Amino acid sequence: MFPSWTHPFLSLLLPSYWSGQGYLKSAKALLGPKLRELIHKNDEGSWSPEGNEEDFNVLAWLADTAKGGDRNPETLAHVEVLLALASVHTTLLRVVNVLYDLTANPECVDHLREEIESVWDAGWDESSYARLHKLDSVLRESQRMSPPTVLGLKRLFKQPYTFSTGLHIPQGTYVALPTMAIENDPDHTADPETFDGLRSYRLLQGEIEGGRGKESSNHQFSSFERTVLNFGYGKSACPGRYFASLIVKIVFVKLLTEYDFQFVPGTGRPKNYVVHEFLFPWPWEKILVKRRVNGACPF
Ligand code: HEM
Repeated sequence: MFPSWTHPFLSLLLPSYWSGQGYLKSAKALLGPKLRELIHKNDEGSWSPEGNEEDFNVLAWLADTAKGGDRNPETLAHVEVLLALASVHTTLLRVVNVLYDLTANPECVDHLREEIESVWDAGWDESSYARLHKLDSVLRESQRMSPPTVLGLKRLFKQPYTFSTGLHIPQGTYVALPTMAIENDPDHTADPETFDGLRSYRLLQGEIEGGRGKESSNHQFSSFERTVLNFGYGKSACPGRYFASLIVKIVFVKLLTEYDFQFVPGTGRPKNYVVHEFLFPWPWEKILVKRRVNGACPF
C-alpha cells in the first residue's frame, strides 16, 4: 500500500516488527557464543567439521564455510533463524493442510487407516513409513493444491544468459518459476480443482506394475519432477525433503490412529490466504477433535 522507500520507517510502527527483532535478539544470544567459539577455532586451524555427530549440523558447516562480511556470529545466527523458518514453517504448513484436506475427504481417511494397519501387521519400525504409499500420495496431493508458495526456483542471473528458445535474460535479473500454476495446469494434472488423495499412489502403482519395481522414487512426496517443483529441482532441490516427509508421516500415523476430526458444523475446509506469493491457512480456524475409542498407534 505504501512506496518501498517508506517501509524502513513504517515498519517501526508495527508490533510484529518489534516481536521479530526480539526473537532475533534471543536467537543471537543463544547461538552467538557457540558460533564465536567455532569461528575462532576454525580461524586458528584447530578445528574443522568432522563427519561425527557433534559436527554434523548447520552451525558447524556455517562456521567452517562462511566468508568475508558473513563470517561473524551475528550474521550466522540470523542465517540459522532463516533456516529454521525454511524447515519448520514449511513442515508445519503441510501438517495443517493435510489435516484440513483429510477432514474434508473422510473416505481418504479410511484408506489411510487400512494402510497403516496392514503395514503394522508386518511389525512396525523406521522402514514402515516408506511403505505408507497412500499417505505419501495424500501429502503430495495436499502440497499440490496448497503449496507454501506460488513461485519457486527464484534465481538472480549474475551473468546474461540466452536459452535455446532464444529467451534472453540480462545480467542482474531476478527470475522465478510459477510452480503452483505449472503443477496445476490441466496439461500436467488432470482435473486439478479436485483433491484426489490417491492420485500419485495410482501413478506409483502403475510404475510398479509396469516393472519399475518397488524402489521407484517417482511420484512420491519427496520427489521432484519437471512439473512438480514444490521442493525445487535437481541438485539444488530441498535437502530436507526426506526428513519433512518422515516427520509429517509420523505425526499422521499418530493422529489418524488415535483421533477423529470434523469441521465445526456449518464450516468446511478453510481457504488458503495468499499474501504476496505465500499461501497460509487461516490461522484462527477451529476444528473438532475426538479421541477414538480403542484407537491404537503403532508407537
Ligand atoms: C514440506 C516441507 C518443505 C518444503 C516444501 C521445502 C521446500 C524447499 C524449497 C522450495 C527450497 C528451495 C529450492 C530451490 O530454490 O532450488 C528449499 C531449500 C532448502 N530447504 Fe527445504 N523444504 C521443506 C522442508 C525442509 C526441512 C525440514 C529442512 C531441514 C531440516 C529444509 C532445509 C532446506 C535447506 C537447507 C534448503 C537450501 C538448500 C540450498 O540452497 O542448497 N527444508 N526447501
